[in-house]
Amino acid sequence: MLAIRNIGELVVVPPGPVGGRSMRNARCVESAAVLVDGERITWFGTERELDAPPDCQIVDARGGCVVPGLIDCHTHTVFAGTREAEFVQRIEGKSYAEIAEAGGGIKVTVEAVRSASCDELVELALPRLRRMLQNGVTTVEIKSGYGLNAGDELKMLEAIRRLKELQPVELVATYLAAHTIPREFEGRPDQYLDSVLDESLLACMRDEGLAEFCDVFCERTAFGIDQSRRVLTTARRFGLTPRLHADQITQMGATALAGEVGAVSADHLETIDDTGIAAMKAAGCVAVLLPGCSFFLGVEQAPARRLLDADLPVALATDYNPGSAMVESLPLVMHIACTQMRMTPTETLVAATANAAAALNRQDRLGAIQVGMQADLVILDVPNHNRWMYEPGRNCVQAVVKKGRIEAS
Ligand code: NIG
Ligand code: FE
Repeated sequence: MLAIRNIGELVVVPPGPVGGRSMRNARCVESAAVLVDGERITWFGTERELDAPPDCQIVDARGGCVVPGLIDCHTHTVFAGTREAEFVQRIEGKSYAEIAEAGGGIKVTVEAVRSASCDELVELALPRLRRMLQNGVTTVEIKSGYGLNAGDELKMLEAIRRLKELQPVELVATYLAAHTIPREFEGRPDQYLDSVLDESLLACMRDEGLAEFCDVFCERTAFGIDQSRRVLTTARRFGLTPRLHADQITQMGATALAGEVGAVSADHLETIDDTGIAAMKAAGCVAVLLPGCSFFLGVEQAPARRLLDADLPVALATDYNPGSAMVESLPLVMHIACTQMRMTPTETLVAATANAAAALNRQDRLGAIQVGMQADLVILDVPNHNRWMYEPGRNCVQAVVKKGRIEAS
């Protein structure tokens, strides 16, 4: 058993999905304590009421704030190579879409990933995951999408599977072969989709448990609505739950498609309109916002307040990738959501825990402070979560508990 005592503020995040209008209401307990038995939270309350058994391991939070382990529900953490040349091109005036149309962008990373071995991809991702854990992140979704042929997509998914065994952060794999059209299929997107939606490939993914979700980049420079529908409905027949990159640069009705196919989440949403908001609401879709991406690209943020006012469950993620969001710190992304999207610190915390768990279909086990939930907890060195968001330039994490064990301190 483990007791965390001397907690300055315990933020009692409720299980997701939490609708946008309720997200700022999470209850806080001051002078709190938490009891953990095995992997689960068994009790929490005020320090005065703590009744820890004599053989219990005691962790002194030293007056720090305790929150649920953060969940990064949209990342591209497995990649090779870097793209700083594009970063400079954008500063000089080119847009992300123009760079992609000129043959740069995702395709540059595809070349690097195709040239890397599975072992190399694992070695590159391990320190990234280590740093994410040190920032308080205990669960990370990772997409394929830089292989763009059966063999290299499977290599990326295999790298994710190996990473699960090598470090404590829980990983969730998503098949994103429909990320862009590779050079060898230029002008032939439907044939490309035939190859990556091959039934024996999808059956292998299902039988080996290599991916849980299927994603598609629904965008002018990638796949249209009908192609995206085809990807998501085909993959669903093989047990992969749909989610999508929607309404990022071009408004094409991608969020309406998310509602239509019953996607668990629609992600990005910088150009979402009222039809898309209504479709997502009707379908119970989580709105995953990626403010680190707009921050990195220097473009307009998604209309977070409109989505919160519409009572959509809003989640936040890094979108960590070498092209549009070389940002691996979820706390920094939460801070950007505070200052650039006017989300309150409490809203950003619910977005990066309970609602992010809902975006990964893990709300029954992860993302909340509740008896019976998995004991994934972050102990901060600041007394409250407002102070955490107020200090973006410093890692305020004191210790991280994953499945009831101290994994970083
Ligand atoms: O979410 N939008 C598509 N995919 C990533 C970018 C990937 C890349 O540029 O390498 C994103 O922004
Ligand atoms: Fe992305």
